[in-house]
Amino acid sequence: MARAKVSIIGAGRVGSTTAQILAYKELCDIVLWNRTAETAEGIALDLNESAPIFGFDVNIEGTGDFSSISGSEIVAVTVGAQRKEGMSREDLLATNSGILRGVCEQVKRYAPESKLVVITNPLDSMVLLAKSVTGFPKQRVMGMAGILDSSRFREFIAKELGASVSDISALVLGGHGDFMVPLPRYTTVGGTPVDELLSKEKLAKIVERTRNAGAEIIKLEKESSAFYAPAASLALMIEAMLKDKKMTLPCAAYLEGEYGIRDIFMGVPVVLGANGIEKVVELKLKDDEKALVKLSAEKIMGSVRGLKLN
Ligand code: 2OP
Repeated sequence: MARAKVSIIGAGRVGSTTAQILAYKELCDIVLWNRTAETAEGIALDLNESAPIFGFDVNIEGTGDFSSISGSEIVAVTVGAQRKEGMSREDLLATNSGILRGVCEQVKRYAPESKLVVITNPLDSMVLLAKSVTGFPKQRVMGMAGILDSSRFREFIAKELGASVSDISALVLGGHGDFMVPLPRYTTVGGTPVDELLSKEKLAKIVERTRNAGAEIIKLEKESSAFYAPAASLALMIEAMLKDKKMTLPCAAYLEGEYGIRDIFMGVPVVLGANGIEKVVELKLKDDEKALVKLSAEKIMGSVRGLKLN
């Protein structure tokens, strides 16, 4: 069986790190597209030259030609301006919607059967724009954020408790912004509910840190926003689909009444498999949790109003 092909649009740090993870895991052939082709070509060459050491038999092609993405099972869009210190993700709306629109027109032209994963910020609005431009069915358009936000939440809990990250399962719903909704009630440490192990105050601090985790990294790194954890999250989504794993993961999905929300993308648990988003999982939320999800959805709707969708 021929290897699957995955295209990554944007050879910045998230794009190139994602390519590296996919290659190390020998999951697929990879096309790395970049506006300046030489950058993508150089990164691809460098990664290919590490293949004999790691022993992966996949091919990585760097290109500035969109026709190279044809036949891709999955296209991941990582292009766009990044936040600088003091900026919110929403400040990127005007710049990034222009960039994303151009890319999505090419994805529609050259990879019309692909599943499309967007990570460009502001995430929830950008993925709606991607669906509108491509016209892809909702199962084949999704955004990466919930896995990243949940991973950060898990990491902070693990450090606070001195526990293994592997023992912590956690869920963050809602938009990828200051109003994301970490759900302590769905968070366990080796099966024990986290609120039996951490005080309300400590948990509230961890929730707040999770909401600001992207900005915390920009403040420290100055010239870059996060990329290791975003790339790992994106690679996990790609792996779940390539291997048809039917994993339940929090992703930005198009909602049509689930959680009382419609016509926007928002982070919810979904089943990811070969067909893309195979199911949206509806949790039985309590009233206070529902109120937080509703507030997060309202913030996304506010952002979406600033978008020209057609
Ligand atoms: C983050 O949260 C860049 O939005 C991304 O780090």
